[in-house]
Amino acid sequence: MQTKSTETTHIPLVITHQRSRLALAEYRLCQKERRLARYKNIVVLTGAGISAESGVSTFRDAGGLWEKHRIEDVATPEAFARNPDLVQDFYNQRRAQLFSVEPHSAHTALGKLEELHDGNVTIVTQNVDNLHERGGSKNIIHMHGELAKVRCTQCSSVFEWLDDCTQETVCPTCGSAPALRPHIVWFGEMPFDMDRIENLLYECDLFVSVGTSGNVYPAAGFVSAVRSYGKAHTIEVNLEPSEGATYFAETRHGLAGELLPGLVNEILD
Ligand code: OAD
Repeated sequence: MQTKSTETTHIPLVITHQRSRLALAEYRLCQKERRLARYKNIVVLTGAGISAESGVSTFRDAGGLWEKHRIEDVATPEAFARNPDLVQDFYNQRRAQLFSVEPHSAHTALGKLEELHDGNVTIVTQNVDNLHERGGSKNIIHMHGELAKVRCTQCSSVFEWLDDCTQETVCPTCGSAPALRPHIVWFGEMPFDMDRIENLLYECDLFVSVGTSGNVYPAAGFVSAVRSYGKAHTIEVNLEPSEGATYFAETRHGLAGELLPGLVNEILD
């Protein structure tokens, strides 16, 4: 009786212990899924890394654009004033590249997120390509401008533009030439829509950063702003830890094209 009684009390305890460990693991998994699935206001910051698998060069990886061109020569207002033909040519080449690249699974996953999510999804991109649009996203802020647009320095009109643009090209609105410049934010210029972005960062409850090295402000500072508001979960998806990786609550390192579809499914579950 004594032995039996010991057995009957001992065995269930082991089983209970194993069950509770299993239950805890399941509970944690559930919590993780529920945590991602419950978010309403989502901001996704993207950088060159999300377009890398489409064949668009990043800036700072080995062989990146800033290894082949000096920022001071092609990406500042002073460069444009000094040698406008060189700057126009640099952006003409990059604009022409838009025709030879396609969005991939990371872009389409974000398009699907916006379409199916029961809440708000905004892409804030540093990228000047149009792969998010072509991947199905609609709510996009191009904070560094767009290759597929040019702007008149005389009358400020902004045009959709897929052809080459030169110093001889005449502004379709005011007829001035030279007058058109790439609708790109150069170093030393203010990124677009910062007021709107700041509100979105304040309101969001999930902030995801994809494919950015965290070298260029103000985008590099978004994660610490979001953390300081204390309302949002923060996730980094990048090939390797970015400069700001330690500011994120969660990091997932690998190819955006492989990681984003799964992350989006977790949010939509
Ligand atoms: P960077 O070239 O600085 O960083 C790209 C990041 O993407 C790196 O951290 C890579 O590790 C990562 N990466 C590369 N391939 C990836 C992949 N397949 N999946 C996931 N991550 C990958 O580009 P940005 O951070 O976007 O500004 O650069 C920010 C700004 O600096 C650009 O908008 C541009 C540039 O100067 C202007 O031109 C004004």
